[in-house]
Amino acid sequence: MGGLIVVNCGQSERLDETLAFALSGIPHERVACAEARTRLSGARVLFALGLGEHGLDADVVALIAYLRLNPRAMEGATGAMIVDGAGELYTKQTADMLALAANLAGCRFPGKPLVEATASLDNWRIQAKRRGVSPQEAYRLAARELAERLASFTPRTAERPSVLLLHASDRATSNTLQIGTNLVEKLLPYCDIREISLQNGAIYDCRGCSYKTCAHFARQNSCFYGGVITNDVYPAINECDALLLLCPNYNDSVSANILAFINRLTSVLVYNSLYEKNLFAVVVSGYSGSDLVAQQVLGALCLNKTFMLPPRFCLMQTANNPGEAMLAEGIRARIDEFAANMLQTMRGAG
Ligand SMILES: Cc1cc2nc3c(=O)[nH]c(=O)nc-3n(C[C@H](O)[C@H](O)[C@H](O)COP(=O)(O)O)c2cc1C
Repeated sequence: MGGLIVVNCGQSERLDETLAFALSGIPHERVACAEARTRLSGARVLFALGLGEHGLDADVVALIAYLRLNPRAMEGATGAMIVDGAGELYTKQTADMLALAANLAGCRFPGKPLVEATASLDNWRIQAKRRGVSPQEAYRLAARELAERLASFTPRTAERPSVLLLHASDRATSNTLQIGTNLVEKLLPYCDIREISLQNGAIYDCRGCSYKTCAHFARQNSCFYGGVITNDVYPAINECDALLLLCPNYNDSVSANILAFINRLTSVLVYNSLYEKNLFAVVVSGYSGSDLVAQQVLGALCLNKTFMLPPRFCLMQTANNPGEAMLAEGIRARIDEFAANMLQTMRGAG
């Protein structure tokens, strides 16, 4: 087990108690937010944030700004987060922002690297019932499990990784797919690539079945709705080492088909684990907002759905008219760099 650097921002009695329980017996050093900057690279970093009721606490904002300004600040680091809120809002938003800033500064995150607590602890009600404990105890246990996972985390690697390229874009016109295709060309000599277009068949969004019904279909590797998601995507997800998701920005969100795919993954998770799979993404926006889409993707697939987040998981580009992305200045170098990063991460040299 590696020792942890615990980066503590904000005051919270409940967070202090939770950390004492979570870290007992795990070698660690607790450092204040402002002093953490020189301690981040190459470390196993547990961000422990006590958030005020309205979010945007000055020390947290300063930490995120520092990470954005220093794109190598977390080179070789592995991260996880405990966010304890004094209100019902902003814990997730803060975690998404911090995770993207840290990731773009070189930090890797294991799957499900966030334990959050809203003021009421209502977010622990379901887990508490499942475990037969109080919400407070469910929160403490999850924090402990996260600290242990962070301390012992080693990413799985593969000599010749298999990559699932998933998109819902039109080949003739999509900027995002053109970047994806160029990326795949770089990966092909070293990886097995499977491409699935979600345009080939109607995609229904998750129906929100009961857990029992979802588990019933999941036992047959299926879902209430069949189609391309159950026939092609589920088996491909289970077989791949990495998912490369192509995400055009539609109204500051992934497009409807990509979101339906994410929602429908719930069924896969009932009996399968995604913890050992890497998540990569390409996000293209016509104007702005790629950061919002990247946060949405990492929030849904890493913080919620357990994919591992490799360092610098996302290539973001601004381009609007068809063909514009591949004409953007420096795009070929950025694709080369992103492909090299993917290979290094998946094959274990990084
Ligand atoms: C329905 C729709 C909504 C869009 N919303 C946004 C937006 O909110 N912000 C933005 O920067 N670009 C937006 N765009 C532009 C796309 O992000 C842009 O065309 C980009 O090149 C990615 O799409 P593509 O891969 O289909 O080319 C939108 C495009 C469509 C079709």
